[in-house]
Amino acid sequence: MLRTSTRRVTSSLSRTVVFARCLNTQSGAVPFPEKLAFAFDIDGVLKQGHHNVLPEAKRVLQLLSGGDGRLSKPIPFLLITNGGGVPDEERRAALSSELGVQLGPDQLVQSHTPLRDYVKPYREKPVLVIGGAGESCRRVAESYGLKHAYIPQDVIKWKPAIWDRTALTEEEEAFARPADFSQIPLSAVFVMHDTHDWGRDIALILDTLSAKDGILGTKREHKSDQGEVELVLSNADVEWRSDWPIPRLGQGAFRLSLEAVYKATTGLELPYKQFGKPFKATYDFSELSLRRYLSSVGRNPDIPLNVYMVGDNPASDIAGANAHGWSSILVRTGVFSDENGETPEHKPTVIMDDVEKGVEWAIRRETGRIL
Ligand code: G3P
Ligand code: MG
Repeated sequence: MLRTSTRRVTSSLSRTVVFARCLNTQSGAVPFPEKLAFAFDIDGVLKQGHHNVLPEAKRVLQLLSGGDGRLSKPIPFLLITNGGGVPDEERRAALSSELGVQLGPDQLVQSHTPLRDYVKPYREKPVLVIGGAGESCRRVAESYGLKHAYIPQDVIKWKPAIWDRTALTEEEEAFARPADFSQIPLSAVFVMHDTHDWGRDIALILDTLSAKDGILGTKREHKSDQGEVELVLSNADVEWRSDWPIPRLGQGAFRLSLEAVYKATTGLELPYKQFGKPFKATYDFSELSLRRYLSSVGRNPDIPLNVYMVGDNPASDIAGANAHGWSSILVRTGVFSDENGETPEHKPTVIMDDVEKGVEWAIRRETGRIL
């Protein structure tokens, strides 16, 4: 039953008053939408940039989590982001504090979270981990059980000549780990997050993919035997919404650059495995996470669900949700804009101005309430 409290709401939350009333417009109880669940993208939906949480995001998550008392019980949701670069538990704690809602262990899927299982065969093998600030992605890799995770700064500490455009900063010297890569057969490259030095990391990935047995400083005799060293990418976003009003380049743009340089220098197509939205592995993993979450809060994890994915990027959020059989709500607070009449490359179930209007529309659609 959808119960809405009649407590006073200040004028500054007038939209909430409208939203609360809309759930209260008809007399009598409305059957609780037991099958309803939400999946929220983060950048461009809940946040715009590192520090800018959208106010409507906080209101919506308070509603759905039952924090504002307007629902008789919470409506389940999880966050699915192509972002990452920080261990899952750390990011979950940070987002819980920023968004004002306590996220459970299964309520956050980052770009690399599905790699937690994928990397198991590599746990005892040396790998190169790319992306993020400092050694944060090494910590992500180690949180997934990788015992020999090296980062670009370790390689430059070993041989600065391998990338002579930027020297290690004092801070990087402090965290870079001594290693002799002439004795380390790298077995895979994991790009865990957007890299902060494209030139350096393109050079190191090319070196690693072209090395004999993964030993840096060597060249494979036969160019055709691609795949000695696996390249795994966690996010295909060419663009994403930060706190700059025009979308910024993401890991997908980095991959396009890497592909071009790889082709130009080897004549071959870049071999890689891609994770992140819109790809099936990420949505399958997210569905399992959502159902684990249902079980953790005492709800039946096996019921059929009507999941609504709220996203700002048609190429990742909408395409992935549509392919997975979820409803999709495209919002205008991120990468997508139809200011000049644009239509999205992947057709959503609906286009709404922001996440709050999107959730309002979905609840109305699921409960039959006419607003
Ligand atoms: O690096 C993050 C960016 O690619 C998009 O993140 O939350 O919009 O999937 P998100
Ligand atoms: Mg987004």
